[in-house]
Amino acid sequence: MTTIGILTGGGDCPGLNSVIRAVVRKSFNEGYEVIGIKNGWKGLMENDIIKLDLDGVSGILPKGGTILGTSRTNPYKKEGGLEKVKVIFKKLGLDALIAVGGEDTLGVAAQLTKDGIPNIIGVPKTIDNDLSATDYTFGFDTAINIAMECIDRLHTTAESHHRVVVAEVMGRHAGWIAIESGIAGGADVILIPEIPIDIEEVCKSIKKRHQRGKTFSIVVVAEGAVFKEKEMVLQEEKLDEFGHVRLGGIGEILAREIEKRTGYETRVSVFGHIQRGGSPTAFDRVLGTRFGVKAVELVKNKKFGRMAALVGNKIIDVPLEDAVRELKTIDMELYEIAKEFFG
Ligand code: F6P
Repeated sequence: MTTIGILTGGGDCPGLNSVIRAVVRKSFNEGYEVIGIKNGWKGLMENDIIKLDLDGVSGILPKGGTILGTSRTNPYKKEGGLEKVKVIFKKLGLDALIAVGGEDTLGVAAQLTKDGIPNIIGVPKTIDNDLSATDYTFGFDTAINIAMECIDRLHTTAESHHRVVVAEVMGRHAGWIAIESGIAGGADVILIPEIPIDIEEVCKSIKKRHQRGKTFSIVVVAEGAVFKEKEMVLQEEKLDEFGHVRLGGIGEILAREIEKRTGYETRVSVFGHIQRGGSPTAFDRVLGTRFGVKAVELVKNKKFGRMAALVGNKIIDVPLEDAVRELKTIDMELYEIAKEFFG
């Protein structure tokens, strides 16, 4: 019997359970068994597993997060990590492993395929939507809809109090969440990691808007955005196992500067993990389901070292390497559209 392992790694996101359910259901139809590996690569090093059957995935489709748990553990940063992964992989008798993750988790997957575990299939997830070789990752649609709703809500209170409100959204290297939720929510300025923040320009846009009679403004900033002025930096220095600093706080600095330079009362609202929690949208449930079914088909056809991807409206497979070689930053055409509404 074919045995498939599945793990979810990195930041959780809505839609992970849709993938797990689809993998188990499709595997059942094919006569395969599925072993769930808990907490990403950590579970594979520690042999922390759970058998997944139809009952185990019943009712999980609308649930956010991941029933398998997740972690940011990198086996390449653990002593003897690679060896442990190899030993457990063999012990579990895995014919294939489906790794569901973003740049970090799939980066490990791509490396493992070169280091003696070739039977890996990737499934792209991240609310940041910054993985290459796929038009969308699941989780993103839910995140932008939540952020959009929050921006809508900020509008009414900002307008009533005649304030500027800075909305800090997620997005480490790419401004996809900021740009799409900002356009959808009618933001007056959108700041993204791809373009360093020119604080003078930001204040000019806000002032221009107020000069034409508006008494409030909404500024959306991605948490990974940086200032042009090098002295305006965040202090957090602690890195995770993938070398990422813990983000958050840019909104606070920005709000302070805007208030100082414009004289308009400015508040900040950090959306944080609200964007990653809760039930997935229909789009994310369908995308996760399609990816899950595709991943099992790739196992069936022994197309290893590949990742399920959405290109146009088709689910295809691409080399894992292509997904992690470079990050997919935002489409500048989209930014130009957003700019038409600044100020
Ligand atoms: O990678 C997705 C993401 O949500 C980023 O946008 C964000 O910077 C990071 O994860 C936050 O991670 P954590 O859950 O460790 O706070």
